[in-house]
Amino acid sequence: MAQLNVGDASFEVADGVRLVLALEDSGVDILHRCGGYAGCTTCRVRFSEGEPDEMRDAERERLESRDLLGEVRLSCQILTDGTMAVEPLMTVSSTEFDDPGDRPTDDMTP
Ligand code: FES
Repeated sequence: MAQLNVGDASFEVADGVRLVLALEDSGVDILHRCGGYAGCTTCRVRFSEGEPDEMRDAERERLESRDLLGEVRLSCQILTDGTMAVEPLMTVSSTEFDDPGDRPTDDMTP
């Protein structure tokens, strides 16, 4: 099992689940406007614990293109593992969007 810490809340989730889905399915408000394809960066989170050392090419390229490399991570490109403490930075309630976006698939994309 993995543990997600978000603010004062803590959730037990399975290992190896896309982080954006683990957050949303735990009731955390987070956007995923491109449906998990490393295209929009709205699933961005800031880690305070448990940030993976590895980064998929799609995440690196998108973060570089938005000048966000080293600032945030894309939760659609990360799998749950161990203890992770994160802060979602773009949420339905903090933006003009009516919904979070199409649900990312369980399997990693792109
Ligand atoms: S980059 Fe769009 S959902 Fe992750």
